[in-house]
Amino acid sequence: MPLLDAARAVRENAHAPYSRFKVGAALRTTTGAVFSGCNVENVAYPEGTCAEAGAIAAMVAAGETRIAEVAVIADSPSPVPPCGGCRQKLAEFADGDVVVTMATTAGQSATLTVAELLPGRFAADHMGNG
Ligand code: THU
Repeated sequence: MPLLDAARAVRENAHAPYSRFKVGAALRTTTGAVFSGCNVENVAYPEGTCAEAGAIAAMVAAGETRIAEVAVIADSPSPVPPCGGCRQKLAEFADGDVVVTMATTAGQSATLTVAELLPGRFAADHMGNG
């Protein structure tokens, strides 16, 4: 799967000296462009950022905002799902039916949609002005 290959490649660049848990994420937009990101930790631990957040930032910086597909990979005993914060970040730019493939470096994988990952998400219409 090409998107997973992009996630696997960018994972090598993760800066994870504190957790030693490298994560790679890649997303394809509705125009077909692929953006990737890795986790970037910091000695001030809460300042670290997730792989998904990096991929989203690269997408937005390139002028794109609609996600069609996502892949995440880590060296984990089971496929790693996006954290809670990243689920909300993905939902900002992805419809509920967008598929998120979660994989391990050993070759396991699982898929869930954005809606399955974040049921009942907070959305603009909750503010009454969306
Ligand atoms: N991490 C990600 O980058 N994405 C996820 O989906 C789960 C967690 C990172 C954050 C931190 O650098 C490390 O994994 C351990 O939590």
